[in-house]
Amino acid sequence: MKTAIYPGTFDPMTNGHLDMVQRAVNCCDRLVVGVARSTPKNVWFSLEERVALVKTATASLPTVEVVPFEGLLVEFARELGALFLIRGVRAFSDFEYELQMALINRKLAPDVETLFLMPAEEFSYISSSRVREIAALGGNVGPYVTPEIEEALKRKIEERRETRDTPRRSAAGG
Ligand code: COA
Repeated sequence: MKTAIYPGTFDPMTNGHLDMVQRAVNCCDRLVVGVARSTPKNVWFSLEERVALVKTATASLPTVEVVPFEGLLVEFARELGALFLIRGVRAFSDFEYELQMALINRKLAPDVETLFLMPAEEFSYISSSRVREIAALGGNVGPYVTPEIEEALKRKIEERRETRDTPRRSAAGG
């Protein structure tokens, strides 16, 4: 049984990530979407929220599992017995960073191979941070995420607005 991992931060998962998952399931028997806990990125969604959103988005794919991880990706791969890491290359600009990561991972774990897949062209310019930015500025993110994730983004924006405004209100009140 060939297990592959598709790792990422997924803050939140986009249709580009989903397109990658749909392509990757055809390359392995079991695809684990690995949701990274620790990330240098300033994430909007908690680990639990990111995992739940990926689970909902991939629910119709029976060979997909969604598992959070922390620490080295190659250690996570060893724990799962995964032989493949799947990464998406959207544009030439992704390549240098991806090559570096793949070579480091190969040095750390020579038995784990990185496979690069290309998402559909219509998703080649999407990233999670662009989707968050559009949503935060009131734009339509419908073409880029599932309806559940669009709703989650709306709720998150409301939540962030409330936490941002609450201290000001109490400061004004006190
Ligand atoms: N569709 C849409 N967006 C995509 C995409 C696709 N097909 N493929 C990549 N992206 C986006 C991501 O959403 C992300 O966007 P953002 O920066 O706006 O969030 C961006 O491309 C690049 O992502 P990247 O910086 O590669 O991070 P990641 O979130 O995909 O995941 C990990 C990086 C978690 C895989 C990596 O940090 C890791 O392996 N961490 C574990 C620690 C470790 O082992 N380190 C040593 C590795 S060298």
